[in-house]
Amino acid sequence: MTTPHRHFLNLSDAGGDAIALMLNDAIDRKAARRGLPKGTPDADAPLAGRTLAMIFEKNSTRTRVSFDMAMRQLGGTPMVMDAGSMQLGRGEPISDTAQVLSRMVDGVMLRTDDHAKVVTMAETGSIPIINGLTDLSHPCQIMADLLTVIEHGKALPGLKWAWLGDGNNVLHSIIEAGSLLGFSVQAACPKGYEPDADFVAQHDANFTLTRDPWEAVKDADIVVTDTWISMGQAHAEAKLAAMMPYQVTSALMAKAKPDALFLHCLPAHRGEEVTAEVIDGPQSVIWDEAENRLHAQKSILLWCFGLLG
Ligand code: CP
Ligand code: NVA
Repeated sequence: MTTPHRHFLNLSDAGGDAIALMLNDAIDRKAARRGLPKGTPDADAPLAGRTLAMIFEKNSTRTRVSFDMAMRQLGGTPMVMDAGSMQLGRGEPISDTAQVLSRMVDGVMLRTDDHAKVVTMAETGSIPIINGLTDLSHPCQIMADLLTVIEHGKALPGLKWAWLGDGNNVLHSIIEAGSLLGFSVQAACPKGYEPDADFVAQHDANFTLTRDPWEAVKDADIVVTDTWISMGQAHAEAKLAAMMPYQVTSALMAKAKPDALFLHCLPAHRGEEVTAEVIDGPQSVIWDEAENRLHAQKSILLWCFGLLG
């Protein structure tokens, strides 16, 4: 049997209809296994006989554990590898790695610094490739965010999402989601830390940028932020100082809609991008968001393997 060749490098690889399909499937699967021990496979075990290799060039807690458990719950086999202990870490080309893995496993999830590496892996391998975070984007995270927002009773079209802080990989995928699914995204970023102009130009249907954090949160349905220093970036006092006015505080949250949700992909830095009062407060849904990495990714895996849609 030929393994279907669907990659999940960015949300646009799937498009709005397939994203909606995956989110609905995630809701159904999550409900169907409620109450089961976490290590018990889903009744249909749809990935029985399939193995996913996960390669990490950067640290991870959520992505690593959620993909591992996703494969187990779907009846498949996870294989976790640190790039540093692979020949990849000694300079073996990503294209050669892709060809070898394509002969031995059924799919690959790659977390890497350089988005070009997931693209090369997809172009040179012959199995589905999933982006587990690159410098450019973090589509799996945003699938979990979308699932969380829906679960908390909000229909996506027409919502206002406010992003505060660094114009990074997570923001890029939110911008892309807004453009595909019809919600607006307003980001407040300090000068010099805006999202990538080329990426924005491709997905700017519902996106606006401001310098003013109060404008961004005004009447927002969703308030979201992320670390000010992403993995691979040098710790820079100048950047932290520039970001300080964009810290998500209770005062800023009060300008959003009264039922606004606070999201954060984690890991978080209380007292930097968000106060403890907000992230540990009643509007924060971060633990649902983290759990939903597992549920959303099960449906991403099924879509990539051609078993959904
Ligand atoms: N949010 C997220 O991707 O977390 P990890 O870095 O722990 O995988
Ligand atoms: N922007 C962060 C996200 C971590 C999940 C990073 O790239 O480090």
